Amino acid sequence: MRPVVHFTAESGWINDPHGITFRDGGYHVFFQYVPGQTVWGPACHWGHAVGKDLLSLREDTIAIAPGDGDGGIWTGSLVTDGAGRARVFYTSTSAPDYGIGRIRTATPGDDEWHNWHKGNFVADAPPDLDLLAYRDPFLRREGETWRMFVGAGLTDGTAMALSYTSEDLDRWEYAGVALQRSTSKTEPVWMGALWECPQIFELDGRAVMVSSVWDADVLHYAGYAVGRYDDGVFQAESWGRLTFGKSYYAPSLFTDAEGRPCLLFWMRGVGDPAAGWEGAHSVPYILSLDDDRLVAQPHADVAEHRRPGLGGRTVAGLAADIEWRAADSGTLTIESGADAAVTIVRDGDMLHVRRSGEQSTTPVSGDVRVIMDGPVLEVSSAAGLFGASIRPAGVDLTVTATAGELDVFPLV
Ligand code: FRU
Repeated sequence: MRPVVHFTAESGWINDPHGITFRDGGYHVFFQYVPGQTVWGPACHWGHAVGKDLLSLREDTIAIAPGDGDGGIWTGSLVTDGAGRARVFYTSTSAPDYGIGRIRTATPGDDEWHNWHKGNFVADAPPDLDLLAYRDPFLRREGETWRMFVGAGLTDGTAMALSYTSEDLDRWEYAGVALQRSTSKTEPVWMGALWECPQIFELDGRAVMVSSVWDADVLHYAGYAVGRYDDGVFQAESWGRLTFGKSYYAPSLFTDAEGRPCLLFWMRGVGDPAAGWEGAHSVPYILSLDDDRLVAQPHADVAEHRRPGLGGRTVAGLAADIEWRAADSGTLTIESGADAAVTIVRDGDMLHVRRSGEQSTTPVSGDVRVIMDGPVLEVSSAAGLFGASIRPAGVDLTVTATAGELDVFPLV
């Protein structure tokens, strides 16, 4: 069963979204794509999807494929220069050490961004660092300069974001370490041994670094730092964890149609290998800061996909957008027929989420939003995001809560 508003590829494997760009009234999303198989493999391509929002994307043809010196086209980002010309920066990887990539560019061959021409390699791992991994360029404009951050990890267990500058997007100079943290540090949050896809940006007048936490081939969660940033150096003042559960990973920063900072995540574990597809993307989230806490709320475009309900708390179809407010304790149940598909028990600042015989506990603060879409469950509050793949309930969902206020909408 496919989700309704969550992006999945027609067939094959997908992971990280990247290069998300709003342009000419619609969004482009690129993503890690391995055609013809439902497990990850190093020969990743850049898939491409377009749509008026990120909940109604249509898959386009492959944008960039291995070959011409690339064994795999791994994660990267897209920038548009002062003259409106787009350019992507991606991780080019090759055997034998796929973990240590090289940064390469590509430019579009047509106005729809269907085809891309590969360009030069613009950065390589700094030779004086004892690196375990080097990949995932993220670019941004800083005044008159271009800045690039690259995710890295040292063999001694130090996770890093490396920094580069350029005046023209062609020639890049290594500018040192933007931010680093040892895997031995666990308080208040453990940030792993390698940062995959580190991204640094401004939010409400402060600097934020979001990255995916990797250790010994295990993908953990999205974590962040909040602090100050000046000329390529990030000083962390606090650390936090943004996601819970095994599904969310590799969030990609983008600016929405109104220019606000947002994230879109890869959701692991969602798929139907028998039907030939594996992997999904989350709904988009808009970011804000609550003191030192990074808060991600479902983007307003989600509510644009609501349709009037059948009345009461029953939703025709398999996707529901649920607001559960003003309940410090109580139980929210989503049923289909006689089956309880999902049960969420609130106990003060913790939520116990039960589904398909599994239970997880996740922090909660304030109001709760639950988006259930066939095989995907996303539960969000100011304390973070919990995501999971679930056994799809049938159509016609009935939602009840033992306390608080409830609003339930079908999503289409
Ligand atoms: C994150 C990641 C990136 C890498 C890509 C490969 O999920 O491992 O670090 O570039 O996926 O598909």
